[in-house]
Amino acid sequence: MHPVRWVALAGFMGTGKSRIGWELSRRLQLTFIDTDRVIERVSCLKIPEIFELYGEETFRAYETEVVRRTLRLDDVVVSTGGGTVVREENRRLLRARGPVVVLDASPETIYKRTRRHKRPMLEVGDPTERIRSLMRERAPAYDEVASFHVSGDDRVSTDVVDDIIEGLWSWSERHPDLVAQGPIDLREAPVPGEDPIARLDEAADAAFEESDAPEDA
Ligand code: S3P
Repeated sequence: MHPVRWVALAGFMGTGKSRIGWELSRRLQLTFIDTDRVIERVSCLKIPEIFELYGEETFRAYETEVVRRTLRLDDVVVSTGGGTVVREENRRLLRARGPVVVLDASPETIYKRTRRHKRPMLEVGDPTERIRSLMRERAPAYDEVASFHVSGDDRVSTDVVDDIIEGLWSWSERHPDLVAQGPIDLREAPVPGEDPIARLDEAADAAFEESDAPEDA
């Protein structure tokens, strides 16, 4: 028995979305999808390279396209990027499909977890101050998108996953309409040519087929 057949994880960078999402997917026997990894695979670029070559707006456009595509999937745990929920459109799309679990962590934990890997949004002189200000700025978006919050701070991942599953059971009782609704198909005809979004559209199906463990798991 599954509480849900589709669930998204959101939250700031370094809150453990990929690790927890992966473990949650194993527990619920669902496929794990990390939107950042889909974008990297489809564009054949690492996220910092996309920021450098095309800028943040292009990355955000990729992100929205991937979010739209996750809505037509079933039996998945979708881990989103930390900035995905900043766009109102993404919040609305995710909430229309199913529960969105927001993982929380303190700025200190986030700093410890993010300093090993390059994050374009934190490439500044004082990353801890940047973490605090971005968290403040984004807090309303996380609150708005959250079906419920779970803390990932100083806890073993099995406890975090237990809390999420418990939350999903009670969410599914309160939202039988969304549980019954199933996939939403928003695909549009791909734009021909060199548009990177069109390439993403063509290749995303293949990337979605693959379920793999997060790199930092
Ligand atoms: C970003 C978070 C990253 C990634 C990109 C931008 C953000 O994802 O999508 O670097 O704006 O917060 P993680 O939350 O998985 O680090």
